[in-house]
Amino acid sequence: MRRNLVVGNWKMKINQQSAQKLVDGLIDGLPSEDADIAVCPPYLYIPEVSQRLANTTIGLGAQNVATHVEGAYTGEIAAVMLKDFNCKYAIVGHSERRANYADTSQTVAQRFQQAIDADIIPVLAIGELLEEREDGTTFDVVEKQLNAVIDFSGIENFKKAVIAYEPVWAIGTGLTASAEQAQEVHLFIRQLLAEKNQQIAENIQILYGGSVKPQNAVALFAMPDIDGALVGGDSLSADSFLKIYSSFQK
Ligand code: PGA
Repeated sequence: MRRNLVVGNWKMKINQQSAQKLVDGLIDGLPSEDADIAVCPPYLYIPEVSQRLANTTIGLGAQNVATHVEGAYTGEIAAVMLKDFNCKYAIVGHSERRANYADTSQTVAQRFQQAIDADIIPVLAIGELLEEREDGTTFDVVEKQLNAVIDFSGIENFKKAVIAYEPVWAIGTGLTASAEQAQEVHLFIRQLLAEKNQQIAENIQILYGGSVKPQNAVALFAMPDIDGALVGGDSLSADSFLKIYSSFQK
């Protein structure tokens, strides 16, 4: 049985004070659920959030990770550095990184591998643009993005990875893929993996991301191939994020 997981991506939408308040709110309000939960603060706040989350069941993640293990890479943060602060997860290939910071299939695959090498679980984000959905090429895009990482890193490494399907047109827009639209792509992703390794396909957590809210989480999580969510905007409120976390069917 796959465990469910919700991951909060705080992006660059928080400051030190609001991060402290948010973490305290999550710790105080955390219901006991049979599911996993994690937050991804901006890099700078990771040490402090890591301390606050010690001895809790809330996991810590980063929003990105460097393509190399060490070296002359000004401004980058290596996976081993994240590991020093108990990061369990690192998001790789978020569409905002692909669109605004020139992340390519190659660099996303390198980041994925760096996370794996440091014993961090990569949360590989993939998903189509609005025009790609309208052109009917959603499956092609998702397949290409996924295969780029499988070809580079090997299917075996997906044993220790999470996939987040995030249709770009649904991120931060208030538009959500319907539960059925999301399920269709999640199933497709699982089938692609199954062609390579049946067991990995069955065990891997595939999260949905894109305007997930308490109002739509129940329907999304009821789908057989949706194992949780990568949440942006609604992870910035402890109340909303914990409501999403409590939306799995018992
Ligand atoms: P959103 O962001 O929930 O604000 O749409 C999701 C994401 O970017 O991962």
